[in-house]
Amino acid sequence: MILELPDYDGHEAVHFFHDRATDLRYVVAIHDTTLGPAIGGCRMWPYATSTDALRDALRLSRGMTYKAALAGVPYGGGKSVVIGDPRKEKTPDLLAAIGRAVESLGGRYTTSDDVGISAPDVAIIGRETAHACAPLTAEGKAAPATAYGTYQGILAAAAHAFDGAGLAGRRIAVQGLGAVGMQLCEYLAADGAVLTVADIDESRVAEAHRRWGAQAVATDAVLESEVDILSPCALGSILNERTIPRLRCRVIAGAANNQLATPADAIRLHRRGIVYAPDYAINVGGLLDLVHALRGTYDVQAVLDDCHGIFERTRWILDQSAARDLPSPAVADELARSRFRSTGH
Ligand code: NAI
Repeated sequence: MILELPDYDGHEAVHFFHDRATDLRYVVAIHDTTLGPAIGGCRMWPYATSTDALRDALRLSRGMTYKAALAGVPYGGGKSVVIGDPRKEKTPDLLAAIGRAVESLGGRYTTSDDVGISAPDVAIIGRETAHACAPLTAEGKAAPATAYGTYQGILAAAAHAFDGAGLAGRRIAVQGLGAVGMQLCEYLAADGAVLTVADIDESRVAEAHRRWGAQAVATDAVLESEVDILSPCALGSILNERTIPRLRCRVIAGAANNQLATPADAIRLHRRGIVYAPDYAINVGGLLDLVHALRGTYDVQAVLDDCHGIFERTRWILDQSAARDLPSPAVADELARSRFRSTGH
């Protein structure tokens, strides 16, 4: 039963759709629409059980409520998941069926891309519904905005931790040189940061070395780099009971989603005196990009300008965390909740 699942958090609605012709099995979870219609990507994944799919939709849609509230956009939290292997089961007909399902919700939920569903897939979904939108950047990716927003978060965390000084001469380790990490390195290098990088793809590491003289470090050692700032831009759950005692950085600020393995890890970081910029406070550039696209007046410079709000917000969260001796995610959650709920939850 949904109400008994640990991921259920008073969600407003959970819809299950089945399309006979394509055998689409699709869950849309709407967590909270206080601030506006729910927004959140559509994920396609070969979930082992329908409960796994449901739990993912519940967890991710809740996360979107907090992300949107913190980003200050007039949207609530939603997410949808398709049960299936995108490499084998994703067809134009299936995408069209997703579009019809989204359309039937009458605008309470707007969908976008996510793992297994690309921007071109969203275009197909969008033939059936007015409530689908993909990033409008040249490559159809929100990563440039995410990278710039994360850079703003890093600037704020550095200003907090190092008394307002910029990034010149700061040693920064970047884990993951994908769409976000590589672009982020460009901003950091331009500010004079000294880069250490790690990626399972050696060609990316070589590129970072060639472009910015970045020092390579093994993927299993990057978290232990002795640096001023660690920027996780690859995987989730990397900050955990095992890794936190071994960290040798003063600040953590990166784009990867769900960096903390458990809520207890926020307390572990706080106790170690490591300044942690909550991931969902600083990786919202992609969401801002989407919101601009939905307005229909897309201008990439306006998106980047909006990302400057991330600096102020992150600085406020970190200052409050220090002043009140609270882990930064607790402060960020409180700020988000104050925006979408008048009473605590
Ligand atoms: P991506 O898939 O383009 O890049 C990920 C990079 O990490 C790849 O170069 C991959 O080889 C590397 N990697 C994988 N495992 C690794 C390991 N064990 N050690 C070191 N490197 C490893 O992904 P993208 O778009 O750059 O996103 C990065 C992170 O930021 C992800 O966690 C994503 O969820 C998050 N994020 C991305 C957004 C976006 O707009 N692209 C928006 C918000 C969050």
